[in-house]
This record gives sequence, structure tokens and C-alpha cells, in this order.
Amino acid sequence: MAEELKISKNVSKEGMYRELYPQLCALLEGELDSVANLGNFCAVLHEVFGWLWVGFYRVCDQQLVLGPFQGPLACTRIAYGKGVCGTAWAEKKVQIVPDVNQFPGHIACSSASRSEIVLPISDRNGKIVGVLDIDSADYGTFDLIDAQYLKQLLSLIDTDLPFWQGGLC
Ligand code: SME
Repeated sequence: MAEELKISKNVSKEGMYRELYPQLCALLEGELDSVANLGNFCAVLHEVFGWLWVGFYRVCDQQLVLGPFQGPLACTRIAYGKGVCGTAWAEKKVQIVPDVNQFPGHIACSSASRSEIVLPISDRNGKIVGVLDIDSADYGTFDLIDAQYLKQLLSLIDTDLPFWQGGLC
């Protein structure tokens, strides 16, 4: 397993995601501990892109509960339909928020957050089991390219494991 990431300087965002995919794949493969893998998943995105906050919430007892993350401390529980994360869960759709101040009901865990993307995570039966939440300290950081590549990266996560299936609630 590579201990260091190799991402070229001066490549486009797409180029960075493309270089990252096989490295993240190698990092996660063969490890069945969800906490270990999700922790590294967050660390890699946080380091490569320099985003403010990268983390997971999982569905637990009808709420989203904070999982592994990198960045400032965060809200531990989010209700269904609340904030950007709860909306992604309820609508089963990626939420791209160019300016968090314009999103009704946005939950401000960090006052430094300016824009955000949240991707719902579903299991093999299509049930939403959690979300990936990413915050940026700049406005308008995320677009459909991020949504597309982050979805690809999320395909590396095994949602059949107990962490996602209520085993740790
Ligand atoms: N802003 C999110 C809350 C989670 S933090 O950003 C880590 C929301 O509105 O759901």
C-alpha cells in the first residue's frame, strides 16, 4: 500500500480525481474495517483538495450520526430533511450548494464554511445508509464534475458492512 499520494501539480480538477482513483482503490482494498477505510478516504480528499471539512454521516435510529471526518469539530446528529445533509437523505439526491447562506435551513457547523456538496450513499438495495459531506472555505467550489467523480470514489466503499447496516448504532 502506498503511504504517500502522488498527484501531479498543475493538473485540472478532473485530472486530480483521475489520478486519485487508483490510489484510493489500492489504499482501501483488502481492508474490511469501515472506520479505518472511511478515515483514510476523508484524509485523502482533505489533503489532496485542501477542503475545509470532509466527512461521513450514517443513518442511525432515523437520524444522521457523525462518522469519520477530517476538519473542524462538527454537529453529531442531523434529523431527516434538515440541513443540506438531511435534504440529500430525504431527496436521495446530490446537493450542490454554491453559497451556504442561500440554502434555507443550512446547519452551520463551522462559520468558515462557504460552499458545500453532499452525496447520498445507498446500499445495494437502494436504501440510503448515509451521506458524504464536504465543506469548502470558498464560495462556489463544487459542481457536477465533483458530483460525478465523488460518486465514482464512493463506489469503493462497501455499504454491506455493519457500520452502514446498523451494526454500530
Ligand atoms: N452543513 C451541514 C451540516 C454538517 S457540517 O457541515 C459538517 C448541513 O447543513 O447539513
